[in-house]
Amino acid sequence: MDWEDCYQKNECPWDKGSPSPGLVDFLEAECGLVPGTVCVPGCGSGHDVREWVRHKFHATGFDISPTAVELAKTKMAEANVEADFQVADFLAETPSARFDWVFEHTFFCAIQPEQRDRYVESVLRWLKPGGDYLAVYYLLQEDGGPPFPSDQDEIMERFTPKFNLKREWVPRSYPNRTNLELMAWWTPKP
Ligand SMILES: C[S@@+](CC[C@H](N)C(=O)[O-])C[C@H]1O[C@@H](n2cnc3c(N)ncnc32)[C@H](O)[C@@H]1O
Repeated sequence: MDWEDCYQKNECPWDKGSPSPGLVDFLEAECGLVPGTVCVPGCGSGHDVREWVRHKFHATGFDISPTAVELAKTKMAEANVEADFQVADFLAETPSARFDWVFEHTFFCAIQPEQRDRYVESVLRWLKPGGDYLAVYYLLQEDGGPPFPSDQDEIMERFTPKFNLKREWVPRSYPNRTNLELMAWWTPKP
């Protein structure tokens, strides 16, 4: 998948122009969380990063597409918020400092199934021991992706050997994704 080409052609149907409704609700409900550092891999144009910042977290968005990162920086300046955006391959790179949180939205499903064990290892590599991994997974069956198929059983099978599940729930979603998303809040096993 040539993500950079999609952003250059502005062919990004996943970008709904606003943060994940599930994330918005989570941050409103969990207003007692101590703001820490957040890594948002596959951040796209940065809507979710800006939402974390709105709640006083120190969020950094990473994307493999330089055009996405430039777009995210432009939107950040327009919104007059302070966040960091960097070009990075989440599956291949190691951060200079690990994060209190890793948050992902419509990213797991963008990863080819044969790369998903690497994805699980990458979350562990970018997250501090004892940190929090929060995900808004997009569940769907159609093949030919991305998005590639993923379902709740696969997600539980891949993550439970390495993570303890704190909570899972069906979030509020964009209108065309109602009941097609799953949120899960994990912490790495000691
Ligand atoms: C389906 S889009 C979701 C974007 C954003 N999270 C959203 O929901 O609007 C997947 C994103 O992951 C990025 N991406 C794909 N592979 C990546 C990788 N290995 N490392 C970092 N970003 C990657 C793509 O460029 C794209 O922005």
